[in-house]
Amino acid sequence: MRTPFVCGNWKMYKTAAEARKFAKAFLAEYEASDVRVGIFAPFTQLPTLVRAFRGTGVVIGAQNVFYEEEGAYTGEVSARMLDELGVKACLVGHSERRGIFHETDEDVRKKLVTLFRHEIAPILCVGESLEQREAGKANEIVSGQIAADLEGIPDEDVRKLTVAYEPIWAIGTGKTASAADANEMCGVIREKIAALYGEETADCVTIQYGGSVKPANVTEIMNQYEIDGVLVGGASLKPDSFLSLVNF
Ligand code: PGA
Repeated sequence: MRTPFVCGNWKMYKTAAEARKFAKAFLAEYEASDVRVGIFAPFTQLPTLVRAFRGTGVVIGAQNVFYEEEGAYTGEVSARMLDELGVKACLVGHSERRGIFHETDEDVRKKLVTLFRHEIAPILCVGESLEQREAGKANEIVSGQIAADLEGIPDEDVRKLTVAYEPIWAIGTGKTASAADANEMCGVIREKIAALYGEETADCVTIQYGGSVKPANVTEIMNQYEIDGVLVGGASLKPDSFLSLVNF
């Protein structure tokens, strides 16, 4: 019922020239299918990627946005600036932004409001730390993030939302959550959204798993009932590896 959604998060990798090379190699082999594909790149590569992927159906997204429309916010980029470039999606609240750049749930919530206003599709990232998981608090932490980040967001916007469940201990570590654990947590997220908005709305939300996804484990993850897609860092950087993920 929900369309599979496979996304690459390039983090702070690749120059524009390298992005152009990636696009050329990827598109030489890529065949569009019923799997939706997204690439989330640093700001400076976005014009190159939007141009290179025009007409292919591949969604080009940013990794961050500031919630104000404009103003004296040195170093920030607005949703209107992204929209002008033809950027159709944006990550919000990635654990590296929450952890390294101290983004709060309130920042994340405001960014969601702004993105929906500009019709840029957000991927809301949530996930617990190893310490929280070992303390048996994973469900509580992730449900709490969902409640805080979606506070005041109307039902019609939530229906268009993608959530990425990314346990912090699995990101870039080579340690993947077991497919069963990932499925369970994606189920917890859907239940929380159902509790807040009702089951019909929760059923519309695309839920991805992220954290050390690679060609060797993508099929098992994608076969889980609650998992609609993957958000992939390291294994999305090479065209052949990303193609294997897209063609899971
Ligand atoms: P990883 O990163 O695939 O390199 O673990 C995932 C992410 O941070 O989105």
